[in-house]
Amino acid sequence: MDRWIAPGRVNIIGEHTDYNDGFVLPIALSLGVVCAAERVDDGQVRLTSAQRPDEVVAVRVDELVAQRDRVPGWARYPLGVVHEFVRAGHPIAGVRLDVDGAVPIGAGLSSSAALCCAVTVALRDLFAPGLTDRVLVEIAHAAENNFAGVPTGVLDQSASILCTAGHALFLDVRAFTAPDGPEPGAAEQIPFDLAAADLALVVADTGHPHDLADGGYAERRAQCEAAATALGARALRDVTEADLARLTDPLLRRRATHVVTENARVLAVVDQLRSGADPRVVGALLTDSHRSLRTAFEVSAPALDLAVDAAIDAGAHGARMVGGGFGGSVLALVDRVGADRVAARIEQRFAATGFAAPRIFTVEPAAGARRLEAVRVCARPEPTLGEFTPDQ
Ligand code: GLA
Repeated sequence: MDRWIAPGRVNIIGEHTDYNDGFVLPIALSLGVVCAAERVDDGQVRLTSAQRPDEVVAVRVDELVAQRDRVPGWARYPLGVVHEFVRAGHPIAGVRLDVDGAVPIGAGLSSSAALCCAVTVALRDLFAPGLTDRVLVEIAHAAENNFAGVPTGVLDQSASILCTAGHALFLDVRAFTAPDGPEPGAAEQIPFDLAAADLALVVADTGHPHDLADGGYAERRAQCEAAATALGARALRDVTEADLARLTDPLLRRRATHVVTENARVLAVVDQLRSGADPRVVGALLTDSHRSLRTAFEVSAPALDLAVDAAIDAGAHGARMVGGGFGGSVLALVDRVGADRVAARIEQRFAATGFAAPRIFTVEPAAGARRLEAVRVCARPEPTLGEFTPDQ
């Protein structure tokens, strides 16, 4: 079977801005989900996961919706992608999908988007070559939202599909999702060469899982919509800091303040990186983002705050929680030589607080979803002519 890979992501900045038509700046991780796939013609989707070796899921393509609630939760993501291809007019007469994920689950690093995107690029190549990146993002996003029932924006799927190695992806979500197709400049690759600046990005997976389906995320979305409506704006993307004073409800004002200031921080970071400034200068904006997520948007958690504080104390230029929040991972921008010290400080603080040990690693901007080159495995060396002695 041929194989495809789609990465998880870490968002440099721009949190809870995507569903407000705003700006995001993710990078792809080198950790991804691999999907081996082949066409079959028995009318079935046959699905296995290396992480669930005891579960083989087999569902008829024409019964995907009817069977949705009977399959295990993890299987809804790949089956949702098959369903979205069929719904979009790309018939699938049967397919075998074997997935294998290396993105930590529940860590806020988009393991589910990586799963959907790996299956999406595999099905594109097998059944619908030529689909644009925008359509791939739409399919993966619809699978996660409509079939798996998780109400995400497009940040994770866009990162997994569009990111390129060595770059951060500056995405203007409104421009990318415009009704007539992406507007020029909607997605820009911003060079982000950490090694050249002797910098590293440390990710600490706190092990405190975040779950987008548990209500807090959907509630924040609804509050953002309510704030935009109260201001007569199409989305919080269109609201200025001066407008915020007109919000009389203090809770909605806090939520909107985060989104408006976070969009401004994304633009400031992009300006700095475009200008070729030393990337250390963006550190303070990362820490500001965390403060805003903690106090105004209220999606942080004690383990996230602890990891951010420990990283800053140990010399990080900036640190923030990443992803939807309520748990998950923290990102810290550190001098390469100081990465071990930052990791050790986070570990010490977690141990002293009685939290389980975090999982800490460094990340670099990696490539987006793609087909993997076939690796030819030759068990034995091929016989040379001289050695080949047929029966005589
Ligand atoms: C989750 C969602 C994204 C985005 C982030 C917060 O990762 O899947 O769409 O909203 O939270 O920035």
